[in-house]
Order: sequence, then C-alpha cells, then structure tokens
Amino acid sequence: MKLNKLKIGKTETPGNLLLAPMADVTNLAFRLLCRQNGADITYTEMISADALLNENRKSLLKGLSSPEDRPFGVQLVGSSPEKLRETALFIEDECSPELIDVNMGCPAPRITGTGCGSALLNSEKLVYEIISELTGVLKTPVTAKIRILERDEKTLEIARLIEKAGASALTVHGRKAEQMYSGNSDLTTIRAVKRELSIPVIANGDIRDEESAEVAIDFTGCDGLMIGRAAMGNPFVFKRIRHYLETGEKLKIDRQVQQLEDFKSYIALLEEYSLYSSTNLRMHAHWFTKGLHGSRQIREKINNLKDGKALIELIKNSFEEIY
Ligand SMILES: Cc1cc2nc3c(=O)[nH]c(=O)nc-3n(C[C@H](O)[C@H](O)[C@H](O)COP(=O)(O)O)c2cc1C
Repeated sequence: MKLNKLKIGKTETPGNLLLAPMADVTNLAFRLLCRQNGADITYTEMISADALLNENRKSLLKGLSSPEDRPFGVQLVGSSPEKLRETALFIEDECSPELIDVNMGCPAPRITGTGCGSALLNSEKLVYEIISELTGVLKTPVTAKIRILERDEKTLEIARLIEKAGASALTVHGRKAEQMYSGNSDLTTIRAVKRELSIPVIANGDIRDEESAEVAIDFTGCDGLMIGRAAMGNPFVFKRIRHYLETGEKLKIDRQVQQLEDFKSYIALLEEYSLYSSTNLRMHAHWFTKGLHGSRQIREKINNLKDGKALIELIKNSFEEIY
C-alpha cells in the first residue's frame, strides 16, 4: 500500500494524488472529472493578480468553484506582493478555497516577461516577500509551486525560504525553466528538497502511469504526487494510479471506450456548470480522442455545434464501431 494520507494545513485527504494547475485545462468541469476518478486535491488554472484587479473581479471568478470540488486550491500568478495579497484576500472571501497557491514555475515568455512565474525564482527576496505577505494576512494555507534551478543549492535555498515564510506545502516540478518540457523531471533534486523541508513536498513532472508514480513516490519519499499532462483527455489516469498504489495491481481497461465515456461525462459537466461556451472544446476534443479513428472528423465539426447534446451525438456517430 503506497497511497498515503496527505495533510496540508488543516486539510486532510485519504490519498495523496493532486491534479496540477493547467491553464485552459483545469476548469471546474475537468477538475470534477479528475476528482470523480480519484484526484484528492485539484488546482484551478492560474489566475492573474493583475487581471483580477483590473477587470470585473466577480466575472473572473464565475464558474470557478463548486461545493462538489473540494478540497481545491486556487493558483495565483503575479509578481507584486501587494497585488497578490489583495487578490488572495478577495478570493479567500469569495470562494473559500482550502489552499491558495503561488505560481513560481511557469516558464512561458508572456508570464516571465512581466516578472511572474519562474522569473520570480531569480529573486529570493521577492519569493520570501510574496509568501510572507500572503501567510501574514490569509486564513487559508498558502502553497507554492516551483521549478528547479541551475544548481541544487539554489533550489534548496529557495525551498527553505518558502518554508520559512510560512508556506504549508511546496510542489516541485523537476525541470529548469529554460528546459520548458524537454528532458526528464529530475527526481534526485526533488528528493533533495523533500529531505530538506519539514512541510509536505509534492513531486511533479512526468508522472504518467502506474510505474512512473511508483518510482516517484519510492525514490523521492515525497508526501504527494501531482499529475498534469497525463490527465489531459485522460482523467482515468488517477483511477489507474490510485488502484495500483493501493493494491499493487493494474486495472484492465479498454482505453478507447474509456476515453469516449470520459469525454461524454466532461461535456455533460460543462453543460451542467454552464461552461460549455467558455471552453476551448477543440483542444479538449483533441486530447480526449487522441489515437482514435474518426477524431479528426470531430475536431473539424466541433466549432459549429451549439450545445453539448449535439456534440455527444457527433461523438456517437463518429465512433459507431465502439457504440
Ligand atoms: C497546458 C498546460 C498548462 C499549464 N498551466 C500551468 C499553470 O497555470 N500553472 C502552473 O503552475 N503550471 C502549469 N502547467 C505546468 C503543470 O502544472 C506541470 O507542472 C507540468 O506540466 C509538469 O507536470 P506533468 O509532467 O505531470 O505534466 C501547465 C502545463 C500544461 C501542459
């Protein structure tokens, strides 16, 4: 039995599998689907402090959370401690998430260009200020998500500062920012961070199946595993990994049938939570139908469909041999 309980702040979960924050992916419907499949904690897409303070605040939070998606974390991206504080207080008030996370890992130029995401890791002082500013005023436990740095000592220094500033957990993606997604996630550095800190450390990067999950937990000794890309179009990965860590046995599934069933459930959830029109369905359809014959037909036609019912009909017609 390798599925352990996880405790972050006051939040205790029976397992330690987390859904990674992913822009344009981890909307409420997708998070609910991952949760139904066994994710213990989910994170929202990153919310920009600047955008929230400049735009209609309430409209940005519309459809962000629901009582069914708990415990969950809201991830913030920003570089000004004051703006992050104001945003976090507003979110705490409006959504009462169990966790508020700070994005310190995104390497996309449009984010780092404004000093946010992984660019924060260039300034230990700012990292410390941001986390202390938040832990000083929030009732909600604060977590941070980082990438590793060029040298291990630097990664450990940042990790120690984040803990010292009062964070309740730290997620480490074992790649440097300049790697983007090339190479492999470095489990040795993640293990070094885990050994250094007393707060829970969550391992992230390249956990895609039963074996990679087992290796990550055994090798790093981390308190939790965070899964990102492997869940895209495949929330069932949580069920598979969970089952394996609990029993040592692999679930037998027909991946094609499973993907289509999950896609239908996803569309139904988008409709139920009125998120259908605000989601990039072509992208999600691409992931959910990856590797299936007839997937191109769906992607081509999707933009003209009015609602989820029409899309479910299209899926059925496109995959007659499976239904
Ligand atoms: C489409 C996409 C969007 C992402 N958006 C975010 C984000 O908003 N915040 C964040 O901290 N990381 C983001 N990430 C990084 C993931 O959370 C995760 O750290 C990374 O994908 C490595 O984990 P994986 O190998 O399990 O995918 C994103 C990744 C992808 C693929």
